[in-house]
Amino acid sequence: MTLARRPRRIVSIQTVPKLEVNAASGPYPILIEAGALARVGQATREHAPHIRGMLAADAKIAAVHGSAAAIGLRAAGYELVVHAMIAEEARKTIETVQAMYEAMLEARLERTSPVIALGGGIIGDTAGFAAATYQRGVPLIHVPTTLLAMVDASIGGKTGVNVQRAAPGAPGTPGNPGNSKGTLLKNMIGAFWQPRAVIIDPLTLRTLDQRELRCGLAECVKHGLIADAGLLELLETEGDRILALDMEAITDLIVRSVKIKAAIVEKDEREIGPRALLNLGHTFGHAIESMTELELKHGEAVAIGLCAAAKASVRLGHLKAADAARLTTLLARLGLPTRLPKPVNRAKFLGAMEYDKKVSERRLRLVLPVGLGKAAVFDDVPRNVVEAAVAEIA
Ligand code: GLY
Repeated sequence: MTLARRPRRIVSIQTVPKLEVNAASGPYPILIEAGALARVGQATREHAPHIRGMLAADAKIAAVHGSAAAIGLRAAGYELVVHAMIAEEARKTIETVQAMYEAMLEARLERTSPVIALGGGIIGDTAGFAAATYQRGVPLIHVPTTLLAMVDASIGGKTGVNVQRAAPGAPGTPGNPGNSKGTLLKNMIGAFWQPRAVIIDPLTLRTLDQRELRCGLAECVKHGLIADAGLLELLETEGDRILALDMEAITDLIVRSVKIKAAIVEKDEREIGPRALLNLGHTFGHAIESMTELELKHGEAVAIGLCAAAKASVRLGHLKAADAARLTTLLARLGLPTRLPKPVNRAKFLGAMEYDKKVSERRLRLVLPVGLGKAAVFDDVPRNVVEAAVAEIA
């Protein structure tokens, strides 16, 4: 493990600042505080006042934290409908959004009635898309309960659902007789819809399983790799305390990671410029995730994707081999995979990368680290470099 090069800087829970995202569509606060769940009602009233609202929650999270949120919202004066969904990628679909619309209509939600999304990224994306489109958009409050959603998905206004693309020759497609399941195209339908507020209670991580916690750490590593070498050092030195959910250490990690995400989305809300940097590791990662036989979660696929991106960058001469090795060591120390767990069909892998929506005009565009704390977008990365990077993580 590399030794820290800077003294430890832990933010005390009492002094956590209220962060703000100055989005072009309007500023919104990010409240990060142990116990913040008890303030959901009050914060929603402050940022999205109305007489009715919908709490859209992950069914499992609703069982643990739903009543605290619902009690607070009702105490703040909301006539509340609670809509639970099973948080699975396969259910992040337009049909699930349709079920939310029906609940919203039934509850007579109006243009200014808020949707409060309680749960991880799947809930935030799905309920966020319902909020973005119901009556052309209603206020959205994110209450993320996974580390991944706290540091990434809840900030920046990306909402959306997946699409199952039928394989050529699958039943129902012209000239069919095949029966393949086709490809899951992640987040292919969606909208940018900024929340009115993000309320992060690190105490909710106590009910998150360790595998999910590690998945969130992959996104924190990504943020450090893009913009803050000190964040990587914090993860190197404080990894054990963070994994043990020491509240000071995890709160510090969340604050630093959120600041990076907020700074990037402020510059480029709609991903026409620097926001693309946040896709570091994701083009490889989405291809890995699309191979469902690998049974990897998003954060795990991103961790392997970060390694692949680092290896491609070393091959292109933009990153030192020692920095790529340091990244791999850190990810492994955090309990994340750094290679594919079983062999894959390489042609299928490369094909999946080309289906990713970050393919620009059929050239492979990749975000690569060009140092620790610095990344850049590269157009037209040679196919042989990508193939070699895939071979290295296989
Ligand atoms: N998760 C990448 C982004 O929000 O742009």
